[in-house]
Amino acid sequence: MHIDELERYWLIAVSVALGAFGAALLASVFIFRVQLPSPVARIDPAEINESAFAEPGLKDMGDNTYAALFVAQMWAFTPGEIRLPKGADVTFFVVSRDISHGFFIEQHNVNLMLLPGQIASATTRFNRPGTYRIICHEFCGPGHQNMVATIIVEDTEQSTAEEAAAE
Ligand code: CUA
Repeated sequence: MHIDELERYWLIAVSVALGAFGAALLASVFIFRVQLPSPVARIDPAEINESAFAEPGLKDMGDNTYAALFVAQMWAFTPGEIRLPKGADVTFFVVSRDISHGFFIEQHNVNLMLLPGQIASATTRFNRPGTYRIICHEFCGPGHQNMVATIIVEDTEQSTAEEAAAE
């Protein structure tokens, strides 16, 4: 079969590119262990009120480490606001009471899908004082755009210094 010379170059270029993409994909899966976030556990939405999620909120685990339990439902997160000291390491555990929601924290590496029946989890550190929104990024009905909670990271060192100055 005759293949034109230019055509052959294109075939080679495409083969090399596809090979590189395939190698990158395999490397990301098997060497760098890139994975979709997976549920840490399962929970029956009807049993949320009999679980640790009956009282969602921030649990102090000591050493500036926290567990944050959130419940999502149309169209709010509970709790609606948490306050953290600067540098806090927080592991979020989030469940949905009704349908699929999203859980995205501005300027932090947390982006979860909340599927009914699953507990989603992610850990991140809050190094910069400020206010960060938790946003539902999965369309969940007419109130979707209002489904927001707030994380306030307080500059504890600064407030301690201010208290010292006030004394
Ligand atoms: Cu919940 Cu969109």
